[in-house]
Amino acid sequence: MTGKTIWKPVVQKLVTGRARRFRMTKQPPQWPGQLMAPGLYLHVPFCKNLCPYCPYNRIEYDEDLFRAYERAVKQEIDLYAPYLEGQSFSSLYIGGGTPTVNWRGLISILRHLQDRVQNIGDICVELHPGNMDCDCLSALKDIGITMLSIGVESTSDAVLERIQRSHDGRTALDAVTRAMALGFKSVNVDLMFALPGQSQQDWERDVTTVVSLGIDQLSTYPMFSFPYSDLGRSKGIRQVTRPPHRLIKSMLNFTDEHCEQSGLHRCAVWSWLKPRKEKFSSITRHHYIGFGPSAASMTGMDFYVNTFDVNAYASKLPAERPVAVSMPVRRRLEMAYWLYWRIYELKATHEDFCAVFGETASLDAEFGHLLRPLIWAGLMERANEGYRVTQSGAYWIHRLQNEYSLSYINHLWGKCRKEPWPEEVIL
Ligand SMILES: C[S@@+](CC[C@H](N)C(=O)[O-])C[C@H]1O[C@@H](n2cnc3c(N)ncnc32)[C@H](O)[C@@H]1O
Ligand code: SF4
Repeated sequence: MTGKTIWKPVVQKLVTGRARRFRMTKQPPQWPGQLMAPGLYLHVPFCKNLCPYCPYNRIEYDEDLFRAYERAVKQEIDLYAPYLEGQSFSSLYIGGGTPTVNWRGLISILRHLQDRVQNIGDICVELHPGNMDCDCLSALKDIGITMLSIGVESTSDAVLERIQRSHDGRTALDAVTRAMALGFKSVNVDLMFALPGQSQQDWERDVTTVVSLGIDQLSTYPMFSFPYSDLGRSKGIRQVTRPPHRLIKSMLNFTDEHCEQSGLHRCAVWSWLKPRKEKFSSITRHHYIGFGPSAASMTGMDFYVNTFDVNAYASKLPAERPVAVSMPVRRRLEMAYWLYWRIYELKATHEDFCAVFGETASLDAEFGHLLRPLIWAGLMERANEGYRVTQSGAYWIHRLQNEYSLSYINHLWGKCRKEPWPEEVIL
């Protein structure tokens, strides 16, 4: 047993009440029933230029393959439509890949979805600065997209070149300015830090520059190297490699101070938000249904993931759902899943917990044993309404959280990228 596998059963026992590792199999999941505070997710797995560090399911854009994808994703939506009737969805998050790599295709998929599934709240889309010309932005606005998240990553041409991004700093800032001028409800900018050769000064310039544009939300991610990514492979990295902690800490401290001074408040481990604005995040909803290759779904009964391979995905449709692996979700695991995302959002309240799990459910009874040591260590504090993550907790919790989640994500995504239909995945 390696060091990596020793800690897993211990953490799993503490969090989920069972030491046994998760086993995802080919067993088809149940169709969704009544969902709780659900969201929708759509994955578009194409990019014009593949960044070597990127862990997401993405392939180089190909027109014919995109057509096959577009046809298949509409068929997948049709399969689900009868099971989603009468439900309201707080949001639809469109991620990638680069969702606007073929924006006319994306608009056509969205029209189809809006036709089959009613009551969708905010629609959020991830954008690459190189794939968001003025026609594209206007079309997104017209179809009802309300929130944008733009992958600026850095404003320094030297840093962008080093990480092999296909745009320069000026193009990225111009893209943000044009998007903001159109009056979307919220514009988020992603920046990456602890990048190769990036100095503290570079980082401070990145943060101050994008904040000065008046964006609604800033999200900052230290660059992680996943073993299966091109970067991971090229470096022969066997374990998930993390940037030096001292660097992460000082860059995060600057971000926090500068954002607070500029009127953006921390709303999640990685994000800062303007007052009275709504958070932009992909999978922090309680239940969600995902469409497209590699999209995950959490229905409260099952957690499952579609096949990653676009051809395999299209070959299953329209006959059946293109699910690669799934696992049943017990109530306790669902509670742990809820807590995981609330901690990520820095707050877990009794009221929310009861709203999701029933009047008699108790956050203290279920997770007191886990939360008390965190309070003792100064990472969390009790608040009237429940528990809050402290500033030092936000740093340490993201470290623990990443240890845990990257280890799972790395394993699940790594296996699904290698095999379209794995026999099983043990997490
Ligand atoms: C799917 S991408 C965003 C949309 C678009 N594809 C782009 O690159 O601009 C989502 C975000 O994940 C972050 N990201 C990608 N690879 C990462 C890595 N290895 N470590 C940390 N963050 C990463 C980047 O900030 C990126 O903007
Ligand atoms: S970071 Fe964005 S553009 Fe780069 S490969 Fe990943 S999804 Fe594509």
